[in-house]
Amino acid sequence: MSEAIQVHPEYNYKVVRQFAVMTVIWGIVGMSVGVLIAAQLYWPALNFDTPWLTFSRLRPLHTNAVIFAFGGSALFATSFYVVQRTSNVRLFSDKLASFTFWGWQLVIILTAITLPMGLTSTKEYGEMEWPIDILITIVWLAYLINFFGTMVIRKVSHIYVANWFFGAFIITVAVLHIANSMAIPVSLTKSYSIYAGAVDAMIQWWYGHNAVGFFLTAGFLGMMYYFVPKQAGRPVYSYRLSVVHFWALISLYIWAGPHHLHYTALPDWTQSLGMAMSIILFVPSWGGMINGIMTLSGAWHKLRTDPILRFLVVSLSFYGMSTFEGPMMAIKTVNALSHYTDWTIGHVHSGALGWVAMVSIGSIYHLIPILFDKPRMYSIKLINVHFWLATVGVVLYIVAMWMSGVLQGLMWRAINADGTLTYSFVESLEASKPFYLVRFFGGVLVVAGMLIMAYNVYRTIKSDSEELAIEPEVQPA
Ligand code: HEM
Ligand code: HEM
Repeated sequence: MSEAIQVHPEYNYKVVRQFAVMTVIWGIVGMSVGVLIAAQLYWPALNFDTPWLTFSRLRPLHTNAVIFAFGGSALFATSFYVVQRTSNVRLFSDKLASFTFWGWQLVIILTAITLPMGLTSTKEYGEMEWPIDILITIVWLAYLINFFGTMVIRKVSHIYVANWFFGAFIITVAVLHIANSMAIPVSLTKSYSIYAGAVDAMIQWWYGHNAVGFFLTAGFLGMMYYFVPKQAGRPVYSYRLSVVHFWALISLYIWAGPHHLHYTALPDWTQSLGMAMSIILFVPSWGGMINGIMTLSGAWHKLRTDPILRFLVVSLSFYGMSTFEGPMMAIKTVNALSHYTDWTIGHVHSGALGWVAMVSIGSIYHLIPILFDKPRMYSIKLINVHFWLATVGVVLYIVAMWMSGVLQGLMWRAINADGTLTYSFVESLEASKPFYLVRFFGGVLVVAGMLIMAYNVYRTIKSDSEELAIEPEVQPA
């Protein structure tokens, strides 16, 4: 990273630049692993009979890379940027910022080495073994101190709503990570969870669901509340709604975990509570989505010329879609059909690719020229190409998984007049296969878009500012 860039010397943009660039790089890596495992589900021979290339080892590598390396870098970059800009003060500590960046990269590299080796605690979305868990805790505390330290020394008395969401995300993830990772080590690379049986499952999904609620949602809502108004050039539609949105969302999410454990050994009342809380969660989720989309009031025409704004608005549409679908899937009778099927995978990616990845991509496109002191991105046309590749890719992915999922659910429960099963399991796999090809193709489009983004970012950083200012290309309105 060039040290010569001196944009807004009063702010620490170095760490924001580092994380912004790594967002693109880890996005390409994590999504490429996604494409590889998608291909393996269609062409199983692609594991080359090599243990560390098997689906079961690469799948957690994919989830950790996209959530924590790609999504995490986007969250670090945007939260460090937003907290400085809205507090009108430099980060509390440059040293802690640098430690957070390098510490997080070390966590990612150690994870990328140990998971393919088969070293895992087997806790979904927290598979890393205990030494890495301790490192994550230390890095996260450094981040927490720096973020809240900056808020304490802020020069603006008001705390902008984006910081509320970022703050809740940072505190909750710390609590979740520490509670869920409690384990007794037996060697450097092996530990056993201190929880057992149904309690272990409950803790796991209290963690897992709130990883969705706070890592994949609250933090990205913070991003949304800053970058949508900025890119649209309009104030947030309703500030009051955003505050109601915040309190309602954080007080409800924490209860919804048991919807991952319907029809299990978990006490029935906890399952029903999880279901009820998930249904209520629809309301604040849509309140936030509507607040974001309505921020475009008076700026809708900008969508015609501004592909960055398109990324942000389409991400909100996917957020609305996945937070409608989630509460439906939490209803026990619906879950009886959707659970264990590709429907869940479709839901995951409408949230993760449609919402999380698209809002991150839009925000990073907004940030790169500011961070590197350029008048704009190198090519607006290429952002537009990326937008269409991503949108078509995500739609192909999720529609294929919905169809495959419902088909699987229906085939598994089909019964003949004499009470025997109509279809064998293998028949349901055969029926799913064409959809896996469509999903693979959708993933290829998404990764192609990310590669174009990397090229565009590289050219923007390398371009001469004056050249960019005079290039006759149509600029976003
Ligand atoms: C090119 C883009 C992507 C492709 C091709 C892809 C592909 C896949 C595949 C094949 C699986 C395994 C499905 C199965 O076990 O049947 C998976 C799981 C998963 N992916 Fe992705 N993925 C992509 C992007 C992302 C992104 C950006 C995120 C998050 C930000 C994400 C989060 C997840 C999660 C959380 C799971 C586990 C789902 C579950 O356990 O129910 N993926 N992905
Ligand atoms: C109101 C909001 C939401 C509710 C009530 C909800 C509900 C659900 C339900 C019922 C499941 C299926 C559980 C199962 O059968 O195993 C599920 C799975 C999942 N959802 Fe959501 N969802 C919501 C929003 C989101 C969003 C926005 C994302 C991503 C950004 C997301 C990511 C996931 C993931 C990763 C899983 C798979 C977990 C696993 O089995 O590994 N959800 N969700």
